[in-house]
Amino acid sequence: MLQTKDLLGLRDISAGEIEELLDLAGQYKRKVKGGEKKFSVLSGKTLVTLFYENSTRTRTSFELAGKYLGAHEVNISASSSSVQKGESLIDTGKTLQALAVDYIAIRHPMAGAPHLLASTVNASVLNGGDGMNEHPTQALLDMLTMKETFGSLKGLKVAILGDIKHSRVAKSNLFGLSKMGAEVWVYAPKTLIPVGFDRLGARIARSREEAIEGANVVMGLRIQLERQSGGAFPSLSEYSTFYGVKDGMLARAAKGAIVMHPGPVNRGIELTPSLIDGDRSRIEDQVTSGLCVRMAALTLLSRYRENKGL
Ligand code: CP
Repeated sequence: MLQTKDLLGLRDISAGEIEELLDLAGQYKRKVKGGEKKFSVLSGKTLVTLFYENSTRTRTSFELAGKYLGAHEVNISASSSSVQKGESLIDTGKTLQALAVDYIAIRHPMAGAPHLLASTVNASVLNGGDGMNEHPTQALLDMLTMKETFGSLKGLKVAILGDIKHSRVAKSNLFGLSKMGAEVWVYAPKTLIPVGFDRLGARIARSREEAIEGANVVMGLRIQLERQSGGAFPSLSEYSTFYGVKDGMLARAAKGAIVMHPGPVNRGIELTPSLIDGDRSRIEDQVTSGLCVRMAALTLLSRYRENKGL
């Protein structure tokens, strides 16, 4: 069982907890795909999505997860809230606490913001992405799609190509996949590989070919133009030419290899459109996994809260 009030990252949760989240998410996925969308797990509870950055997939799937589980669900978008009048995150948290909110899914540009919020409210906080730190539910949904494709995560080679330095997705995947026995390889311009990433367990490839050779999963990551403070590479077209994944390159990958991307995708930059839309792509399945992982996370946190009398 999840041993924590909040889901803030995968660095600090165990392989057993990840396994439990993935098992329950898989059960929800089978039910949701069969048309079942009404559960009473969070009946009478309230979920707020508090997003200080743009999102399509994460925010919508947290909202739908809350609704399918029977919660009251409210969205606060920073651009139309009292944050614009200078209200601090802690004061926003106290306000939500006074409104008897039980779950808060937050996305924030500053690393550690969800941790600060979690330490000041009784509600369970779910990290929907904090700066360049972590995006735990994204990595869980990626792992669910991989596990469903291959049966197990143990022994998989996962090649991640793209903006590793600014990516919370890469970090959460590295923490989660390493705990589950997979090997994570990364490839990008040196300026987009964070210092010390190898000490966290990643294998740094010297070429695209080395990254993709024998890989079971080839994952593109978005080039985050909004987080680049200065030329990490000369131009998008040069990035695409020298670092993007093209159709023929999958011939080097393992038999049955799949293509993944957390989205949003810069079409033709990280991956070619034919890879994005091709039969090896699991990008749409990742979105469905995201809904079900968030349902599972809310469910397991609700069991923790019940056990602790919260
Ligand atoms: N993958 C992901 O976090 O997408 P959104 O930014 O649309 O939520």
